[in-house]
Amino acid sequence: MICGWKARFASLAAALFLGNLLVQSVLSGERKSLGHSSAADPADAEPESPVRRLPRRVARGFLPLPVAVYVQAANAKLWDEMFQCLRAVLRGQAELGGTIDLIVSATDSKTVARYQRNISKLPGVRRWRVLFVENRGGDIGQFLQQIVAEPPGSYSAVLKIHTKSKDSWRRNMLKNLCGSGAVVKSALWGFKEHPGMKLLGPRDFVHVGRHATFTPGFCQAMECRENEVGKARLFMRKDEESMSSTWQLLRPDSEEPLDQLWAIVPGSCWWARGDIFQELLEAAPRLLASMALGASRRGGSGQAQHALERWIPTLALLNSTFLGELDAA
Ligand SMILES: *[C@@H]1O[C@H](CO)[C@@H](O)[C@H](O)[C@H]1NC(C)=O
Ligand SMILES: *[C@@H]1O[C@H](CO)[C@@H](O)[C@H](O)[C@H]1NC(C)=O
Repeated sequence: MICGWKARFASLAAALFLGNLLVQSVLSGERKSLGHSSAADPADAEPESPVRRLPRRVARGFLPLPVAVYVQAANAKLWDEMFQCLRAVLRGQAELGGTIDLIVSATDSKTVARYQRNISKLPGVRRWRVLFVENRGGDIGQFLQQIVAEPPGSYSAVLKIHTKSKDSWRRNMLKNLCGSGAVVKSALWGFKEHPGMKLLGPRDFVHVGRHATFTPGFCQAMECRENEVGKARLFMRKDEESMSSTWQLLRPDSEEPLDQLWAIVPGSCWWARGDIFQELLEAAPRLLASMALGASRRGGSGQAQHALERWIPTLALLNSTFLGELDAA
């Protein structure tokens, strides 16, 4: 088992950083099947990167995929924006002839009833549940409780969104994941077209490598200070200790992935294939026990949820040919 994973890391490292052989061959195989890509595809000239941007595109008719949306809606004041996103997912899926399953969680018993009333009659929702969860580990802790209650394994595409408090940050993520029915169809098309893509984040939010720093696009989207561009790090030293201890809870007795393969989607809103969550689901009780109850007093970083904000995309990358970034523009 451990040997298998080591071999997997080694081959991924080789593919991504030493010659791109694996990625190249898989992608060139995929590219042949892309009727719309022209000879001038700029990706042909450049080395393959572990992150690839997918444009919004006009998806022609294709069969609907099984889709689920997991909303961590701790802050009821921001429900309206969650709802707009849901509506876009419903519209996109409806245009393909599909439905969605919807899992919403609240950390306050009063909002549970409100959410239930709100979503119980939404057309296009095949199955729904509003869960009352512990306020533990921020959105990631709530998501873990959601997947324990409703395992996501059978869905081709799972959208995870939450009521992130910072406005510009949240709105940028929502716009580039579910800003309209067309954006949603582009995401679903991406999963259909790229079998090796396990996770699709919002544009400017998918970063790979321990030394990754704030890019200009990311900085603009989250309204950071200009002097942070190219300087502020996405993997801070104070995260590394909790990354190590959390990795041991996730995959006991196995080595951490190579740091070139560390990946993060800051804010943890993304689309992903349901099959990447099996290990997370198995480790969920241990992981949840390691997360403090209540809102974080320590703020910024260094806790299990911050480690998982990094390890979930990393686990996805270990099983992917690339991670996608969706661009709504
Ligand atoms: C559900 O919530 C949205 C957003 O706040 C609102 O626009 C909509 O009218 C609500 N629907 C129902 C049935 O309560
Ligand atoms: C990776 O792929 C294997 C085989 O498909 C699967 O069993 C495993 O759960 C996947 N893990 C992740 C993190 O995607």
